[in-house]
Formats: sequence, C-alpha cells, structure tokens
Amino acid sequence: MSEITIDGKVCKARAGLTIAEVAKANGIYIPTLCNYRGLKPVGSCRVCTVRVGGRYMAACTQIAVEGMVVENTAPDLEDMRRSILEMLFVEGNHMCPTCEKSGNCELQALAYRYQIMAPRFPFQFPVRQVDASAPKIVLEHNRCIQCQRCVRSIQTEDGRRIFVPQNRSRRRKIGVDPRLVSELTDEMALKAMDVCPVGSILRKEVGFAVPIGQRKFDKKPIGTEIDEEITR
Ligand code: FES
Repeated sequence: MSEITIDGKVCKARAGLTIAEVAKANGIYIPTLCNYRGLKPVGSCRVCTVRVGGRYMAACTQIAVEGMVVENTAPDLEDMRRSILEMLFVEGNHMCPTCEKSGNCELQALAYRYQIMAPRFPFQFPVRQVDASAPKIVLEHNRCIQCQRCVRSIQTEDGRRIFVPQNRSRRRKIGVDPRLVSELTDEMALKAMDVCPVGSILRKEVGFAVPIGQRKFDKKPIGTEIDEEITR
C-alpha cells in the first residue's frame, strides 16, 4: 500500500491501481467517459486528465506511484475537460430531449455538471445514417462518441468482438460485424445499451421503460456518488 495526494488529500493506494481507481476508493470524483468498470482502460477520451508534476496524464490509465502529487480540480484542468465535452457535443448530433438515454446518459450528465450552456466551438452537423439493420439493436451513429466501451465489452462465447470500428478519420464509426450479429443475444443487446455512455446503442422494441425524470442522473447528478467497487 502506497500513498499519493490528490488536491492535497492523502490517499491510500493499493499496488497496481490507476489514479482514477485510487481517487474513487478515497471518495474523490474524477470524471470519466471511455473508462468502464471491468474493462481494460484505453485512455481515449481524456476527460479524466489530471496533472502530476506539471505533466498531463489520463487518470484512468496512469498507475498511481508512491508520492505522486495529483491535481484534479485546478480551474484550467476543469476548463480543459469542459472543452473536451463541448467538442464531443459539436462533433455529433445530440438531441437530448428526444433521446431514449436522456437521464441515463453520462455525456448529458457531465454537461450538466460542467454547466455547458453553449459550446465554444462551431457545430459540425455531420450527416450520419441511423443503422437499424441488426435484428435486436439500433445504432444511432449521430450520438456515438467512439469510446469503444461496446467494442471492449460485448463478445461472443469464443471471444470474438461483435461491435467493431469501421472506416477511418471523419467517416469512422462503430458498427456490428455482419458475420456475428446473429449471435447477439437479448442479454448482450441490453448490456450493450447499458454499457454505452450515450444513446448510441438502443435495444429494439424496448423504449422509455423508465420515464424521463425518474432515471439515474435525474435523481443524483453524476459525481455525487462514488462507487466503492474497484475492479478493472
Ligand atoms: Fe480516461 Fe477516457 S476516461 S481517457
């Protein structure tokens, strides 16, 4: 067991845990999007960026080391996170009021936390098709933030990935492998919808089972409840 400090608070750190995990275990909130409990972190969204000794690091991938002095809530760091969230909003087409994931959406919840009223960047309004070709799910590419949580978490029994990145650059999207989509069970489809931080994966024929206003972040804003469970 080692010790690090986060914004001046001394935190116990079990060997091998990341800064984000140590923070969580010590009741400190560091925002995350691409990171998800039980999945290997990839550090792609950078929403969890902290500063250690003047260097910027992704808290979800950086292992905590004895004596680290971590800055988490410095105003410039918080503004950097806000700008990342704003970029995610302008890069896609996010119509929160009509989204099935409203109230359960981590991007929306973070926007409320960071009090984003109007992004500082121009909206891109990309033209993206909704893909309803899979039997059990709808892929709403307009909302996808490319976190790849679905890619990493939904696999067939023999470990093949059902969700796969397709194309490159601005045309990049997350699709389903046409050879494996028939193996997507009801449970896997629900899990995929659950693991998606936004409303990009929707289970067909199941909608608004929980009314808007009674959903997870309608009851408790994101970051007000620290999950004690630390797994990777
Ligand atoms: Fe750490 Fe996305 S949560 S980079």
